[in-house]
Amino acid sequence: MDGHFSENDVSGIVEADRSHIWHHLSQHKPYESTDPRVIIEGRGLYVWDQHGKKHLDAVSGGVWTVNVGYGRESIANVVRDQLVKLNYFAGVAGSIPGALFGQKIIEKMPGMSRVYYCNTGSEANEKAFKMVRQIAHAKYGGNKWKILYRDRDYHGTTLGALSAGGQDERNAQYGPFAPGFVRVPHCLEYRKHEQDGAPDVYYGEWAADQIEQVILNEGPDTVGALCLEPLTAGGGVIPPPEGYWDRVQDICQKYEILLHIDEVVCGVGRTGVWFGYQNYGVQPDMVTMAKGVASGYAAIACLVTTEDVFEKFKDNPDDKLNYFRDISTFGGCTSGPAAALENMRIIEDENLLQNTTDMGRRLMDNLYALKEKHSVIGDVRGAGLFCGAELVVDRTTREPVDETMAQAVVADCMEQGVIIGVTNRSLPGKNNTLCFSPALTVTPDEVDRITDVVDGALYRLFSASC
Ligand SMILES: Cc1ncc(COP(=O)(O)O)c(C=O)c1O
Repeated sequence: MDGHFSENDVSGIVEADRSHIWHHLSQHKPYESTDPRVIIEGRGLYVWDQHGKKHLDAVSGGVWTVNVGYGRESIANVVRDQLVKLNYFAGVAGSIPGALFGQKIIEKMPGMSRVYYCNTGSEANEKAFKMVRQIAHAKYGGNKWKILYRDRDYHGTTLGALSAGGQDERNAQYGPFAPGFVRVPHCLEYRKHEQDGAPDVYYGEWAADQIEQVILNEGPDTVGALCLEPLTAGGGVIPPPEGYWDRVQDICQKYEILLHIDEVVCGVGRTGVWFGYQNYGVQPDMVTMAKGVASGYAAIACLVTTEDVFEKFKDNPDDKLNYFRDISTFGGCTSGPAAALENMRIIEDENLLQNTTDMGRRLMDNLYALKEKHSVIGDVRGAGLFCGAELVVDRTTREPVDETMAQAVVADCMEQGVIIGVTNRSLPGKNNTLCFSPALTVTPDEVDRITDVVDGALYRLFSASC
């Protein structure tokens, strides 16, 4: 029991949870004989569970969310003050925090112009898809309605977003999906041996050219948008290969295809710059963001567009349908932008982008050192505090370890008091990448502790192959 948090009275909580709560992405059978975990409190990078056990959270709330760490009273205070002043009004009207955060986020996104508020990453992506469809109807006589998405990328849980889902295990049994979503190949160089025709050199350009091939097969005048994660997150922590984004941008321009970048994971600092795409000098038409926007202190997501996209929804006011006829009830909650403003102030005042770059380098160096020691690590990938280690049975064949082994690493680390992640029910046979995404405030000692604990877990579980 950790002294600091032992005063919490959690009697009855575990039973109430076990009896009534349906946890996300969870098989509940084990909870008939073991207790579900309940997280009681958080401070900095640490959370305490129902037993008072302290965990170092190396995945920012499990899903890349709590970027500025737990227990930020200043965010709680601005949210409280805002709720007392005005908690809500529907998005047909503006609000003080909505206007101010919109201005602030646009300052960080040269070339972008307009912010549409909603609540979840899935919802923001749905809005973008709807815009593409409306533009197709209004400007292209119903053509350019198809939306391309990439193998291994994920854009959310709703049926529209799953229709753009590149993770077959996430999608399984939820079809049929919406028509007009077309898959393009992934760009994971480590697994290029599984892709027909992939070259030894210039893989990035080749991977982008595969997108062009899909466009040509579909017919360029049928394709309205390409939706990509800047770096693939849950599909295996995949920074794009060199040359990829430049070529993607050229292809989009060549065929008048809108580039929609899904920054739900990478947005607002995760890779050491404000947005993941800014690592690659690319200029999107639409950007969606959610998780780190307010670090989970309030539910907020944004769809940000260029003025050019915005203009298409107001250039014919005599047409009764010529505006974005979308609504998000809780997009009008003022807690979201209020929390997001304070979240951004913290990132700036505490110089957290620099810390992300510095600590990300340290984390990557530590992971490379682990790769030297443990042959089960086949590949180490990342940018900033967005890092992954892919586990393989054999470095030559690159055969993935069974997912139960990857999960055993996570369980061993949990036992040692460090929460890490693993690709989860994403790709058949390839849920084998460990994920590391601590808060942007992480210190050198905490980075070292994370990788020391992983080191121990790998020794215990794979010592025969070390
Ligand atoms: C890249 C990406 N886009 C979209 C989403 C969906 O976000 P939400 O769960 O807020 O709907 C996720 C969620 O993990 C994501 O990783």
